[in-house]
Amino acid sequence: MPDKIVIREVGRTFDVKGGVFAALDRVSLDVQDKEFLCIVGPSGCGKSTLLRMLGGLEHPTSGILTIHHGEADRPLTAMIFQEESVFPWLTVEKNAAYGLKVTGTWRGPESVERVDYFLEKTGLARFRTFYPYQLSGGMKQRLSVARAFVTNPEILLMDEPFAALDEQNKLLLQQELGKLWEENRGTVVFITHSLDEAVLLGDRVLVMSSAPGRIKQSIPIPFERPRTLMSLRRTPEFNRITQELWDLLRDEVERARAEESGRVAATATVTINAESAG
Ligand SMILES: Nc1ncnc2c1ncn2[C@@H]1O[C@H](COP(=O)(O)OP(=O)(O)O)[C@@H](O)[C@H]1O
Ligand SMILES: [Mg+2]
Repeated sequence: MPDKIVIREVGRTFDVKGGVFAALDRVSLDVQDKEFLCIVGPSGCGKSTLLRMLGGLEHPTSGILTIHHGEADRPLTAMIFQEESVFPWLTVEKNAAYGLKVTGTWRGPESVERVDYFLEKTGLARFRTFYPYQLSGGMKQRLSVARAFVTNPEILLMDEPFAALDEQNKLLLQQELGKLWEENRGTVVFITHSLDEAVLLGDRVLVMSSAPGRIKQSIPIPFERPRTLMSLRRTPEFNRITQELWDLLRDEVERARAEESGRVAATATVTINAESAG
């Protein structure tokens, strides 16, 4: 399959007090058309920065990032974040339709049908007239998912979309997303800190190193679809892959933690000096 996204030696620095901070360093990766790519990495390694670049919300400071826009009448990307990103002043139905309306791609009855289809698929059809304050956290994330799918983006970008949910809701939404994607395949870049989630959903899992973020390893996920976490967990292969991912990740998490405590210690020293000086 052709590459949908090509990233070559991409870096991103930020100007911070006292210098320049490198968030990403020489990241190179390809994402195939209709691939479900998961990315894991220690907190602060630049995952969100990378995703925001793909969504056009952030720019690289070095390197080249190319996205192939196949069909002019489809939006290139849609993003789903961890925080609730539905509009509180719109009903469920209007939230789901929002993307089509705002991009000028609303097509009357055909669009109504599309909105209905995804509300049905996400279990929200009965709540179409509800406002977000009347929904649970899980339902609001379902609505974010429905809204993104409705616009039929070529690339779906998801940044820890289920991280704030309780365990049962998370399991349900993971399952539902997997099913929805199988029925409506597009390219997905999905960031998560859950290894189980990455293996359940991904065709491939990338492990990133601690800051400045680099691609440490790419692990293909061989399981047939449809998948369920419960049946995967019964296979030795699943345990082998999650163990391998954790072995790769653990070093990076430990390194990130050491750097963090180094930073805290340095701050504490400054405070003590300031106090003794005062
Ligand atoms: N606008 C910004 N200005 C300064 N530093 C930033 C900015 N955005 C992100 N960073 C820093 O870049 C690093 C990577 O951030 P992020 O991409 O959010 O990491 P992750 O999503 O992997 O936790 C963090 O140390 C963060 O503080
Ligand atoms: Mg993040």
